[in-house]
Amino acid sequence: MSDKNTNQNVSVCASHEVKIDNFSRTTLSVDSKFLEYMSNNWGAVPSEPATVHEVAPYAAARRAKVSRKFAAKRLVIAAGIMKQRANDTFYMFRPHTSFTHLTGWGANAAPGAVLVFDPVASCAISEDTATTADDVAGAAAQCDSMQHTVTLYFAESATRYSKEFFDNSEVGEFWIGAKPSLKQVSTALGLNCKPIAEFQSTADDVTLDNAALAEFLDELRLVKDDYEIAQMQLAVNATGRGFDEVINNLDSAVTAERGERVVEVMFHKHARTAGNWEGYDTIAAAGAHACTLHWITNDGPVKEGELLLLDAGVEVESLYTADITRTVPISGRFNEIQKKVYETVLEAADAAHKVARPGIKFHEVHDAAMAVIAEKVKQWGFLPDNPDPELPYHRRYMVHGTCHHLGIDVHDCAQARREMYYNAILEPGMVFTIEPGLYFHPGDLTVPEEFWGIGVRIEDDIVVTEDGSRNLSAHIPRTVAEVEAWVQSGRK
Ligand code: GLY
Ligand code: MN
Repeated sequence: MSDKNTNQNVSVCASHEVKIDNFSRTTLSVDSKFLEYMSNNWGAVPSEPATVHEVAPYAAARRAKVSRKFAAKRLVIAAGIMKQRANDTFYMFRPHTSFTHLTGWGANAAPGAVLVFDPVASCAISEDTATTADDVAGAAAQCDSMQHTVTLYFAESATRYSKEFFDNSEVGEFWIGAKPSLKQVSTALGLNCKPIAEFQSTADDVTLDNAALAEFLDELRLVKDDYEIAQMQLAVNATGRGFDEVINNLDSAVTAERGERVVEVMFHKHARTAGNWEGYDTIAAAGAHACTLHWITNDGPVKEGELLLLDAGVEVESLYTADITRTVPISGRFNEIQKKVYETVLEAADAAHKVARPGIKFHEVHDAAMAVIAEKVKQWGFLPDNPDPELPYHRRYMVHGTCHHLGIDVHDCAQARREMYYNAILEPGMVFTIEPGLYFHPGDLTVPEEFWGIGVRIEDDIVVTEDGSRNLSAHIPRTVAEVEAWVQSGRK
């Protein structure tokens, strides 16, 4: 892949620039006659007809809540820009979570786009202030709830009818392929769209750096709407199939020198083909690596007789992600100690699932799981002889929380206030994980040697319903018998 040297300075959008250092490369010479030649004689190609995306009314309802809360303020919600990896290469672009939530624009969102809420004195926009007839019609329709006109600004790509088509490798469709136009995005998302060049910031803009706005937008995602729950089920289903792919390739993981990498890439292959990407770095932890909670190096062997802990989630095109963990016996059968640990974690998970319903507090789900863990490690004799009643000794074997909200972000709604998150009363539509575990590090002198190197976590994604909760990932094998049969069917 080669491009021209006309743009050493990568303009991702009018207001943000990323400098690149790429001067020593041999690139195509820029000859004005050649540019002229390349800019002409391109015939018409059919473009995709624009259709309304099902997310549009949901995103409009979210924007209405923001508008009511921040009436009279000008809000600027930026998608963000591409992050440079090295000279002229960039990481895959991922728009800001709140930008996606408020626009419905997911994996294909344009880098540098901004969503702007301009306050209006009243809902009745006059023909003087409206730029299009659609503005007037749109404002009238939203008169009850909207205190702002909302505009999505982004840089259109350069089509074959423009000079930049070939002459600018950052926006020219010759280089980057066809992208949706302002009109197509406007139709799909139900938003008034304008070129980024027309966007002007003001000193009074409230942006995502503003703590009150960031907090409100994170709390806005605490309860998911029907569209979001359906997307999360899609993400969970895709993740289940990705886990199947891993199980069906365990033989090659066992024979590879770095079998954990085989596990990681089998899941990645599925995440890229069935969805957009993973929602976070996959943890493919075999043997004692399972005790390292953030094990993402994934360069160890996958050995017969040990356990494999796989924590992974497919992020679908709308950017909603699953977050699932399964721990499986690599040879297809748990030994007695592995089984004892696994069944305890399962019991803790089931205790948490049982209490999750509207009306209880978020942290009570965690408390239910921890009560099982605390009781078991006490029964096993792992606690000190003269315990200090103030110390949670059992947390040595499970230091992490049991639950976190899940959505576009794997750890969704992280800026919500404690009283809205950890101490909040559960409501229908909340989606979160239940993920207890037990981890016995090699050399931990508080436990018998036979426990060393065993790490188990079972993680499911649940949605709170009117009268309880539903496990979106219940179909992915969980019990000892299910997990053993799953692995046995995958090993040749
Ligand atoms: N599964 C990743 C996490 O919850 O941190
Ligand atoms: Mn998790």
